[in-house]
Order: sequence, then C-alpha cells, then structure tokens
Amino acid sequence: MSLKEYITNIVSKFELYYNIEQKTQSGGKLLGEGGYGCVISPPLKCNKPFFKIPYSIDEKYVSKIFEYDEEDEDVFNELKLGNKLINIDPYQKYFSPIINGCNFVKQKHPNIQYLISRPNYNSTSSSTKKTDKCSIFNDVEYLNLISKNAGIDFDVALRNKNPNIINFIRINYIHIFKHLCTAVELLHKNNILHRDIKTLNSMIDYKKERQKASITLIDFGLSVAMNKKFKFTDLYDLTYFGTDYYKPLEIIIVNCMLKVLKKNKYQEPIDFKKQVLKRVFDSYKYIAKDIEQDFYFTQNGFKYNGDILDKNIKSSNYQRYGNKNLINHLYNHLYKDFVNQKLFNNLTNSQDKHNFIYKWDVFSLGLMFAEIIVKAKINDEKAFELVNNMINPLYFNRYTIKQCLEDSFFKNRNVHNYSPSIESISKTKITKTKFINSTSKKTKKHNVFLQVI
Ligand SMILES: Nc1ncnc2c1ncn2[C@@H]1O[C@H](COP(=O)(O)OP(=O)(O)O)[C@@H](O)[C@H]1O
Ligand SMILES: [Mg+2]
Repeated sequence: MSLKEYITNIVSKFELYYNIEQKTQSGGKLLGEGGYGCVISPPLKCNKPFFKIPYSIDEKYVSKIFEYDEEDEDVFNELKLGNKLINIDPYQKYFSPIINGCNFVKQKHPNIQYLISRPNYNSTSSSTKKTDKCSIFNDVEYLNLISKNAGIDFDVALRNKNPNIINFIRINYIHIFKHLCTAVELLHKNNILHRDIKTLNSMIDYKKERQKASITLIDFGLSVAMNKKFKFTDLYDLTYFGTDYYKPLEIIIVNCMLKVLKKNKYQEPIDFKKQVLKRVFDSYKYIAKDIEQDFYFTQNGFKYNGDILDKNIKSSNYQRYGNKNLINHLYNHLYKDFVNQKLFNNLTNSQDKHNFIYKWDVFSLGLMFAEIIVKAKINDEKAFELVNNMINPLYFNRYTIKQCLEDSFFKNRNVHNYSPSIESISKTKITKTKFINSTSKKTKKHNVFLQVI
C-alpha cells in the first residue's frame, strides 16, 4: 500500500484538514536520535497534515523525522498505532504517540542539516562527524511525524547530571513504577505489545517549579496489534525485532528455533536442538558485554544493597542468559510446546491465557526498574522482589503485568503522601482544542479523537 492509499484509507470518512495554523519556524532543538530517525523541537510545519489533530510549532511538540521507504509497510506502524493510542489514552497521560504527520518537505530549520550523500560511518572527515543537528539526506524521502514533547528519556534522566530529576525519582519511585505498569497494562488490555520498552523509550517531563512530572511511553514503531490473524511464518519477525538487551531469553530461543526452521524450509532437521542452542549462544555472545555490566544481577536475581553493589560477581553467575542449564531447561519447555503445536497459539492468540508474548514487555520493564533502582539509589526490599518477579527467566513463573500491579509493593503504601506527585500530561490540551466536543470528558473519553481523525 502506498502512503497516499494508506492515508486515504484512514481519512476517507473525513475531510482532510489542511489549514493548520502557520507560524514561522523559530528555533528548534535536536532532542534525540534513534535507530530510525531524529526528533527535533519545535516541530516542522506540515502544509498538508494527514489528520485534523492540531499541534503548534513550539516547544510543546516535536517532529520525528523518519526515513520513508515506500516498500516498507512498517513505516505506517507508528501512525496507525498513534491513532489507536489517542483513543485509548486521550489525555496522553500514559503515552506520547505520533498524533499527526505529513510528507517531509525540505524547509529551513536551524537544526537540520541537509546532506547530499550518505556519509561513510567509518570516515573521520569533518562532514560526517556527529553534530547536534539532525542530518537529512537529499536522496532519501522522509515523513514528518508529530507528537507532544514528552520531556527527556529516562536514559538521560538517570545520568547523574540531573540531581533534581533523580531526587524526584527517588521520592516518587512507587508512583512512577505504578504509572508505568498501568501504562503497559493499558496496552496489553488493548492487545498491544510494545516490544521496545526501555529507558530510551520512557519519558519524564519534570516541571521544577511545580515539582511535578508526567511520565509517558514513546516509540511505538515496533509495537504490534496482537488481535490480528498471524501465519506461522510471521512468528519469526514477531520474535526478531526489539532491543536485544531488553529481550527475554524465551523470545531469543523461539527466534533461534524459527531461524533454523526457516533455513530448513520449515522442516525440522535431525540436529535441531544443537543448531538452535548454537544460535542462542551466539546471540548471547553478541550482547554479553552489555549484560556483564549488569553487575547488580546476582546468582539469586536482582539485589541491590543501598550503596553497596557487589561488583565482583562472576559472569558464570549471570542468570539472565549465560547459564547453560537454564537455556536447556527453557529450550525443552518451548520445544514441547512446539511439538504439541501449542507454541504458535501461545504466542499469537491474544485471548489465550497462556499467551506469554506479553511477558516480553514485563521483562523489559523489570530491567528498566532495576536500572532506575540502582541509578537513583533506591533501597527497598519490596522493589527488589517486584523486579525479580518481572525478570524471572522462567517465563511461565514470571509475573503478568496484572500480577505486577497486584504485588504487595504497591499495596498499603502511602504513595499519595509523597509530595510531589505525578500529574497527567495534558488535561488542558483537550479542552483548548476547537475540534473537540468538550461536553462530557468522562463519558465521551474514548471518542474524543475519533471524531476528528
Ligand atoms: N515526544 C518526544 N518528546 C521528547 N523527546 C522525544 C520524543 N520522542 C522521541 N524523543 C527522543 O528521541 C529519541 C528517539 O526517538 P524514538 O521515537 O525512540 O525513535 P527511534 O524509533 O528511532 O528509537 C528518544 O529516545 C527520545 O530521547
Ligand atoms: Mg526509540
């Protein structure tokens, strides 16, 4: 499907809205660069935005400039998911998705540099040096995708340079964990797997004056709407994408199983197990360096004792991936499901209570919590227990997101006594916009944006 067809499809019931307020572009800042594009604020103007949803050319919004390859249907993923998420979370309390967009048109912007050709990444010539500008290549097409400015990501926030934010996190970590678990629960309830939860994709917008912050998830580029029909051959891609470090072992094993099957035209070779385990160990080697920095994961799971971290833990103790017995055990478990033809259903059927694909997000979120605990120096036994239940390598024993929220970590604890607290990101946004029927926010909540898309 071409972009034009896609957009025509979604907006067919509605007239396209072209006359978004045109302000002159002033300033702009490169906020971040991910695997697929760069993010700048204020955003770039759209002369012909895809949707009616308004946005302003100021610091409240950002542009994600995204390489557009007509062949690749995934480029629409974030737009599609954005549509869904706006309905699920109209106040953008939990998510900061893409809300609008357009084809990227070359325009003057202080923080975009236009390059004629692709730099050679190994080259040291001055034109290819990393700058604080977003590099746009003349020979590549882009989309300009708009979302709310969600502040800074947790990767940046947890670096020691932000004592105010770290202090805020230290005081409010129970509330923050609850908010993030609720965000993921909301996704899972709506059959959406985020698939790329990590510090870089979790945002905090801290308002120092008011000592409040909003916390949201971003980057739904790899998210999957699970309530569709899958083919067996889709399983490979389903388990392939994501960020390796944040991927649980069972997903790595399933992906290696599928890689071997795919290579053998979906016939199981005699030495299947050997081939699969070799690939699992190869994948492990690839991420081993990152995992070895995880000195806070001990033989018995996650443990952090205030300021004291045991940095002398031997790598053979790493339960996360390196342990041969564990890998064998998990392989046998998954292989049994595969032979009994349950594996496909267990991964793709969003109604099936045995579906463990959603535990991928729980695992990633657990790793992120561990990082927050260590970097913000949080000393709380109950938090360690929660994390251990979230990152349990035995996925069948790992918590679901619902179980996380039911954990005693969140119970009977005076989270509301903590001031400052988190506030929702944009209560004002909805009421301000002229497109939205603001009569009864509570009852009409889920239809607020449907009317304008
Ligand atoms: N809405 C936003 N507000 C503020 N910063 C953002 C926003 N979206 C993304 N960023 C920053 O840009 C980085 C890359 O954006 P992301 O959407 O994750 O792109 P990618 O798909 O390439 O990973 C993020 O890690 C974050 O630092
Ligand atoms: Mg990202």
